[in-house]
Amino acid sequence: MLPSARPAKGVPPAHGARTHSRPKLTMQLRTRFLALQAHLETCHAYWRPAPFHDPQPAWCAEHPALAAAALALDDDTLEHHGAAPEEAAAWLSSQLPVLHALNALSTFPPCAVHALPPLNSRLHAEVPGRKKAQIDAFVAHLPTLTGPVLEWCAGKGHLGRRLHHARGVAVEALEIDPGLCAEAARLAARQGLPQAIVEGDATSPDTLALVRDRDVLALHACGELHRQLVRTAADNGARSLHIAPCCYAHGVTHTYRPLSQEAALTLDRNALRLAVTETVTAPLHDRRRLARDQAWKLGFTALRAALDEGRGDPAHSSRAFRPVPAAWLKADFAHFCTQLAAREGVQLPSRVDWPHWEQLGVARRDQVRRLELVRHAFRRPIEVWLALDLALGLEERGFEVSLGAFCARTLTPRNLLISAHRRM
Ligand SMILES: C[S@@+](CC[C@H](N)C(=O)[O-])C[C@H]1O[C@@H](n2cnc3c(N)ncnc32)[C@H](O)[C@@H]1O
Repeated sequence: MLPSARPAKGVPPAHGARTHSRPKLTMQLRTRFLALQAHLETCHAYWRPAPFHDPQPAWCAEHPALAAAALALDDDTLEHHGAAPEEAAAWLSSQLPVLHALNALSTFPPCAVHALPPLNSRLHAEVPGRKKAQIDAFVAHLPTLTGPVLEWCAGKGHLGRRLHHARGVAVEALEIDPGLCAEAARLAARQGLPQAIVEGDATSPDTLALVRDRDVLALHACGELHRQLVRTAADNGARSLHIAPCCYAHGVTHTYRPLSQEAALTLDRNALRLAVTETVTAPLHDRRRLARDQAWKLGFTALRAALDEGRGDPAHSSRAFRPVPAAWLKADFAHFCTQLAAREGVQLPSRVDWPHWEQLGVARRDQVRRLELVRHAFRRPIEVWLALDLALGLEERGFEVSLGAFCARTLTPRNLLISAHRRM
């Protein structure tokens, strides 16, 4: 954990990691944020354009050696870099030295962990394995909380129940989905746990007011669901907030509305989605399937561009299309293109050389994946900038804040934890 500010009176130190003097701690998050922001702004040509839509991003001409090195990567190396972001970052930093600074600014030192008392496995039996491990890590990295604790966007309330069993605090859960609320109530009742389950919308003023005098936990509450909480928590009298953010684009129509007055980076939905494209590596057959789907979409795009050009209308050739129904990807390339062309109003000629366009799609996909490697080097810095924006936003609203990683990125890449206590 990298604490940002003064320890609050009467509030136990987060993770026992507050070892620096007050002004220095405050500066750490702010300095990090401003340095990240400056580098991201300077380097925006590398991460704003998506090679899927822009086959030759402008940086390729400005930095031909980097483009050539990326395009020359063999499949095995590319696959390896995709599965090991740290190694990809090391390779890319040797080509693009500013990444050394960006990676250092985006890396948090390991933080202290509170040992969790063992849990009777029956009590956690219905929680999927990876979620169980994330919850254990999250709880282990929480500071001492007096409660009552309100779990924000709680799903089935697994986190709250785990916290109750580990620390004995009173827990409540807020969730919008009636089915998940019913499941949460059933699981709590089965464990004899008096966990209040509130069915409500996390963005409505009445619900936001529930945080009064609460320690609020938000594990993977998406985009606006955690940002609304941050915007209103001080006025609504929350005691503390512990947020592991995710899905930053959720609730953003055009551009990101920052929390901190220091924020000066403009992020659109594409950039916000880029921040979360790092996922736990999918099984091989899923990756192959995704690669095939991407090749088909690029094959269709190339075919449409050629048709547009033939009709003297190249201006439209790079336009994006809406998500494709999964069923269209189940048959073959010709079937896929025919369905998509009908929806997109593209008139196909009576004869199309399908193998040619499918092959072109594969070639474009191979190029896109290599150029994307460069863009992907910026996703963690963007994610850390977003988390720091939340952290500084909370400081500006009167909270003492610390920020760090609560688990390895292999468990979940959404592993940043912002802990904030209201200043007394
Ligand atoms: C990514 S899940 C996280 C669930 C849980 N915190 C966890 O880590 O397993 C997000 C949850 O937010 C809930 N949600 C979505 N919109 C909501 C809203 N407006 N108000 C309250 N909950 C909402 C969803 O139903 C879902 O359970």
